[in-house]
Amino acid sequence: MAPGDSEAAVDELTSRYLRPGTLQLGAPPPLSVYVHLPWCLQKCPYCDFNSHATPSDGLPEARYLDALRADLEQSLPLVWGRSVHSVFIGGGTPSLFSPEGIERLLADLRSLLPLQPGCEVTLEANPGTFEQGRFRAFRAAGVTRLSIGVQSFDDAALKALGRVHDRGQAIAAATLAAEVFETFNLDLMYALPGQDLAALDRDLDQALAFAPPHLSLYHLTLEPNTLFARHPPVLPDDDTAALMLDRLAERTAAAGLQRYEVSAYARPGHRCAHNLNYWQFGDYLGLGAGAHGKLSFPHRVLRTVKWREPAAYLREALAGRATSNEEEVGRKALPFEFMLNALRLREGFEEALFMERTGLPPSAVLPRLEAAAAEGLVEPLMTAQGRWWRPTARGFDFLSDLQERFL
Ligand SMILES: C[S@@+](CC[C@H](N)C(=O)[O-])C[C@H]1O[C@@H](n2cnc3c(N)ncnc32)[C@H](O)[C@@H]1O
Ligand code: SF4
Repeated sequence: MAPGDSEAAVDELTSRYLRPGTLQLGAPPPLSVYVHLPWCLQKCPYCDFNSHATPSDGLPEARYLDALRADLEQSLPLVWGRSVHSVFIGGGTPSLFSPEGIERLLADLRSLLPLQPGCEVTLEANPGTFEQGRFRAFRAAGVTRLSIGVQSFDDAALKALGRVHDRGQAIAAATLAAEVFETFNLDLMYALPGQDLAALDRDLDQALAFAPPHLSLYHLTLEPNTLFARHPPVLPDDDTAALMLDRLAERTAAAGLQRYEVSAYARPGHRCAHNLNYWQFGDYLGLGAGAHGKLSFPHRVLRTVKWREPAAYLREALAGRATSNEEEVGRKALPFEFMLNALRLREGFEEALFMERTGLPPSAVLPRLEAAAAEGLVEPLMTAQGRWWRPTARGFDFLSDLQERFL
C-alpha cells in the first residue's frame, strides 16, 4: 500500500465506521477469522452451504489464494490494531486444498494480522480426502484442530446421504486425527434415512471409541433448494428424532462430553474457541466466497458479505472489491441478533456482556428476559462476577420460541 493509499484508508475508516452514533460499545470483542473454501468433490443432496463441485479442469487453488490475500488486504482497515483469537478454515471441503496451499494461507494471515499465542486454527476435513501424509502436513502447516465431516459410520446411511466416503475411510480419518492433532471434532448427523435407535447407538459406539474431545451432532434437516427438499427421503418421525436426541445427550454425558451448545459437546478444555466467539457475539472477519463477517466499532456493529459465487468472488476480490454487501445492524435488530447466538449456549450469558457487545442499555432486553423467566424459559443466576441469564431445560427445548421474544 502506498502512503497516500493508507491515508485514504484511515480517512475512510474515520468517516464511515468511527463517526458518532447512538450505540456505546465497550472494548472491542475477541476477533476471529473465518476463511471459506467453497469446493467439494461433489455436492451432497442435503447441503445448502455455499459449496460447489470441483470444476472439471481442477481447483483454481493458486488464484483463490491470491484472491483471499487481496480480500484480507482490503479488509485490514476494518480491523486495524487488533489481534486474532481463532481461525476457522471451513467450506466446502478445505481438505481438498494442498497442505502447501493451507500453509500459504496461514502465512498470509500471519504476515498481515497478529495471531494471539495459542490461537486455535481449525480446518474442516472430509474423510473422502483422507491421506496419511496430508493430515500430518496440515498439522505441520499450523492447523491445531481438525473437524471431520463423518456424518455416520454406517455404509448404508452414508450412501443414502450421497457421501463420497465410506465407513472405513471415516474410521481411518478419525483414528489419524486422534493421533496427529491435540484436539479434534467429529461431525455426525442423526435422524437419517432408515436410521433407528439401534443404528444411532452403533454410530455413537463407534464415535465414542475414539474418545473424541469434541462432537458436533446435527439433526438432519431438509433445507430448501437442495435435492433432498425436491425428493425427500423417508426420515424418522419427530418422536423418534426426539428420542434420538435424548439418547445422544445421555450417552455423551456418560462419556464425559458436556453439551455446551445446541449441537456441540465437549470434554473440559476442548470447547471450540472459534464457535464460542460467535455465540458470545464476538467479532469475525469473513474471507472467501460468500463469507459473512461481523465487526464492532465504538458506535456501530457492521455486517459484511463477500461475493458468493466462486467465479464472481475471484474476479471481484482480485479487482479490489471482495465485499458484495455491507450494512450496519440496526439498534432494533441487535437484541434479537445477540439472543440468537447467546441463548444457544447451555450456560447462557453474563448480563454485562449484552451491554458490552451491543452497546445498548440493559432496558433493551430486561423486561423481555424477566417475562421469559416468569414463564420458566430462562433463569437468572447470581455469580461473583454478576448476573447471568441461562435458558432452562424447557427454554432450551423451545429455543426458537424463546429467541423470537427478542425480535
Ligand atoms: C459445512 S459442513 C463442513 C464439513 C464438510 N464439508 C463435510 O461435509 O464433510 C459442516 C457440517 O454441517 C452438517 N450439515 C450440513 N448440512 C446439513 C443438514 N442439511 N442438516 C444437518 N446438518 C447438516 C454436517 O454434519 C457437516 O459436516
Ligand atoms: S462435503 Fe460438506 S460442504 Fe460439501 S456438499 Fe457435502 S456437506 Fe456440503
